[in-house]
Amino acid sequence: MAYRPRSPSPVIRITHWVGALSVLVMIGSGWQIYNASPLLPFIFPAWATLGGWLGGGIAWHFAAMWSLMSSGAVYLIHGMASGRLRRDLRPRTVPVLLRDLGLAARLRLTHTPGTYNAIQRLLYSSVLGVAALTVATGLSMWKPVQLGFLTWVFGGYDIARRLHFALMCMIVGFLIVHVCLTLIVPSTLFGMVFGRRIHVIDKDKPS
Ligand code: HEM
Repeated sequence: MAYRPRSPSPVIRITHWVGALSVLVMIGSGWQIYNASPLLPFIFPAWATLGGWLGGGIAWHFAAMWSLMSSGAVYLIHGMASGRLRRDLRPRTVPVLLRDLGLAARLRLTHTPGTYNAIQRLLYSSVLGVAALTVATGLSMWKPVQLGFLTWVFGGYDIARRLHFALMCMIVGFLIVHVCLTLIVPSTLFGMVFGRRIHVIDKDKPS
């Protein structure tokens, strides 16, 4: 049977890029907010921050929060209703993950368009969970009275703040790996932008 690569649907592409832009804005504005009252003995360089001052950072942070939550909700509802999340992002078993890690370490892991390997599945499903937790810890600090239960779940405002920071670091780590992998296999970028790959794929073989 001819090999048919699955392309990301418009819903996935739009929610991915709106979500990605929102995350970048949230990181830059979050660093601006952090700089006003640093947790650790360093601040982020001004060029990497967004908003110009504390109030500007907060305005950007909250604006991007809504676009991130909306795109995330549409992505998740669509993914669950269509069964796509289960089909494409469900983590593989540990032996398959170890096999793919071994292949990746030897630079032998092939990329099959439209099918995610065990490492991609783990990274993508983890980052979705981490992003949801980042939003939840953020909400618990924003409305510690109205959402007091959430603040309590995270161990109080101060712990929620540290968790929020640690989760942000995980997202930044994911982004570095994710963008590097995208640059190694640039055809995936065209797939995520235009919905199809620019190179012609052999009819019977994954590339
Ligand atoms: C801003 C730079 C980004 C670039 C260039 C980028 C690029 C891409 C590309 C090319 C794919 C498709 C991979 C493939 O088909 O093999 C993809 C998928 C994905 N990316 Fe990104 N991405 C970026 C940011 C983000 C961010 C900020 C997140 C989340 C925090 C994210 C989460 C995901 C997820 C979960 C998928 C799988 C989506 C699915 O198929 O349902 N990406 N990305």
